[in-house]
Amino acid sequence: MKAYLDNAATTQLDPEVLEVMLPLMTEQFGNPSSIHSYGRAVRSSIERARKSIAGILNAAPAEIFFTSGGTEADNTAIRGSIETLGLKHAITSRIEHHAVLHTLEHLSKAGMIKLSYVNLNEKGEVDLEHLETLLATNSRSLVSLMHGNNEIGNLLDLETVGDICEKYNAVFHSDTVQTMGHFPHDLQKLKTNFIVGAAHKFNGPKGVGFLYVRPGIKIAPFVHGGAQERNMRGGTENIYGIVGLAKALEIAYRDMDAHRRHIEGLKSRMIENLRSKIEGVSFNGNSADLGNSLYTVLSVSLPPSDISDMLLFNLDIAGIAVSGGSACSSGTDIGSHVLNELQIDPDRANVRFSFGKYNTEAEIDYAVNTLADLYKKEAVSL
Ligand SMILES: Cc1ncc(COP(=O)(O)O)c(C=O)c1O
Repeated sequence: MKAYLDNAATTQLDPEVLEVMLPLMTEQFGNPSSIHSYGRAVRSSIERARKSIAGILNAAPAEIFFTSGGTEADNTAIRGSIETLGLKHAITSRIEHHAVLHTLEHLSKAGMIKLSYVNLNEKGEVDLEHLETLLATNSRSLVSLMHGNNEIGNLLDLETVGDICEKYNAVFHSDTVQTMGHFPHDLQKLKTNFIVGAAHKFNGPKGVGFLYVRPGIKIAPFVHGGAQERNMRGGTENIYGIVGLAKALEIAYRDMDAHRRHIEGLKSRMIENLRSKIEGVSFNGNSADLGNSLYTVLSVSLPPSDISDMLLFNLDIAGIAVSGGSACSSGTDIGSHVLNELQIDPDRANVRFSFGKYNTEAEIDYAVNTLADLYKKEAVSL
């Protein structure tokens, strides 16, 4: 048996998505910038995709810019807003994805901004009072805080943070890569200036994503070149990716309730079974708090053991694909920057299980039993 339980890293392409992509890899091969019929046919596919995504998110097509994925969309929003809007201060948290953290750290090192980190509690939740203090005591700021944490599944209340940002006239970017396609986003209700998506996190193709930019904000391009994406991103478009992205988002929204129920069922089954089969198991961040975390992510913390170092390897041998992540235990092992912030015991092993629509109860049971067996064997050999 095999179990792919690493859906926060990437998901399997939905065959319905592949079907709409194939013609753009074969007969519809024109360059969308060409004015002849070959180009025009592809241009209209791209614009249909843009319109569909905008419609789903309750935005206008002109507010959607296609990118090579989440990282580029985050970079464009952060670098573009700091450069163009003249922002001299940015606020983020230490548990953001590196697409955000490394970008802001780079700008800070280059002397372009002062960078502040908002306080987090031991669960990794953002201290909103501290956020207000940082906003009140600094010049106009960029706030970059993720909607769903890819390692521990914590969710941010976008509406509350949006209200706070509005109060202090801050520019609000949220890395929504892990929630896009899994939770609804209504851009008429949210006060985010930028949100992002990456198709491969919701059963679309890799290497394509988008940036939403709220009207009224004009930022500099990240990739300079031709006039594609209304001068915001030079380069011939990833046409099959864009069409696949739009289809994947359509399917994600069409089936969202059913997928959520299915995946939440798997996650709660795993939590229960782990609790009953492995003594001393616990869960990082809010990930075991159903209803208050990404339903796709469960960050499991396992008691100290001799098998910790070989855990992922053993799971891989058994055909179980997961992600690891340790807290910092030595000078050379930098571990997971997210788990390090939670100050968890470095002797415990951490496994991130992340679920998708194709997972089954049998896979969950197989993963839990394999893990429990590994711990049992170790207990016997001690
Ligand atoms: C929260 C978050 N942001 C950004 C990214 C980067 O997305 P991409 O791989 O499409 O560049 C990821 C992917 O792992 C992510 O989980």
